[in-house]
Amino acid sequence: MTEKILKCFREKFGDGGDIRCYFAPGRVNLIGEHTDYNGGHVFPCALSMGNYGVARKRDDRILRWYNMTYPEEGVREISLDELKPNDNGMWFDYQQGVIWAMQKEGIDIPGGYDMVMMADLPAGSGLSASASIEELAAVIVRDLYDLPISMIDCARFGQISENEYNGSNSGIMDQFASAMGRKDHAIFLDTSDLSYEYVPLNLKNEKIVITNSKVKHNLTENSYNSYNTRRKESEEALADLQRVIDINSLGELDEELFDKNSEYIKSDICRKRAKHAVYENQRTIRAVSALRNGDLKAFGKLMNEAHISMSRDYGASCEEVDILVEEAWKLPGVIGSRITGGGFGGCTVSIVENEHVNDFIERLGEIYRERTGRTAEFYIADAGDGAGRIDKD
Ligand code: GLA
Repeated sequence: MTEKILKCFREKFGDGGDIRCYFAPGRVNLIGEHTDYNGGHVFPCALSMGNYGVARKRDDRILRWYNMTYPEEGVREISLDELKPNDNGMWFDYQQGVIWAMQKEGIDIPGGYDMVMMADLPAGSGLSASASIEELAAVIVRDLYDLPISMIDCARFGQISENEYNGSNSGIMDQFASAMGRKDHAIFLDTSDLSYEYVPLNLKNEKIVITNSKVKHNLTENSYNSYNTRRKESEEALADLQRVIDINSLGELDEELFDKNSEYIKSDICRKRAKHAVYENQRTIRAVSALRNGDLKAFGKLMNEAHISMSRDYGASCEEVDILVEEAWKLPGVIGSRITGGGFGGCTVSIVENEHVNDFIERLGEIYRERTGRTAEFYIADAGDGAGRIDKD
């Protein structure tokens, strides 16, 4: 992969100088959906799929970028001093947003850089292609200019980029997973204080299979911004609850306390959204304990419950994804299956016994085609390391 990008870099920007290679992964979230902006827990892992970049410092303040995934767009050129928020959601907006966020937070970026990148991850499918692009930019500037910032800072700048530059009011899960991933581990992250633990994914007899429904979501869709609406609904529920109980986030509630006070949430819709946020957080905590105790069956059952909650209470699934999940549940060797990521389309994540993986892919693909006329794509997830500089291959 890097060889191809290096070749293109030399063609576009010339050879010589200190040319460096980078990679930033996408992520798959195993459980804990729409809990990250509600002060709850999430459990994602970084993937071995993501965005690759090759870059070299410049001695002026210009950024010159080319994305091999979108060759028709040509070389994009902009000065470090010209960056302005917008909600176009183009690949370069996510990177510009990170650089803008760093500068806004007082980080001095001394110069620009030339870069060629290439995606190895489908965009708009719930695998955090945008966070991967953001973290690619973060690690490139951090490394090229030896900036005194941590990888958690890189995740934070990525979230600021989403929220304040790109107009998506997302939480920090995706950027955190992309920046902080660890091979063969998932990250149990408490978003209320960013404390985290790496939990080994000791799956000897099972694989994590991602199924792409090919129904695209768009987190900053202007006409009807479902993601931001969900966030507002959660906030409204929290505000109602705060009139009667002393809490800072929905993540502070367990099921019992929520059920006792849920009547104070005025809108029925907001009550359902809050129920998901509270129950999903508790499910995530239980799921991680189950995994640690080697009880994969219990983990899978919680994944299934998480899907139902995401679909019925949070209203963040869609017909095609529900079909993928419900049909997966019926297939042999499936330990658990659910929607993953922001929702409204995108991917499902399933844990499938090794010996059934091939049949799972074949059968589910067929059924999905019969029922929706669409062709699903399947990937076997391989939990990988977080973003950083990589060797030239
Ligand atoms: C998107 C957001 C995340 C998170 C998930 C839902 O991926 O970027 O912050 O809220 O949706 O869990």
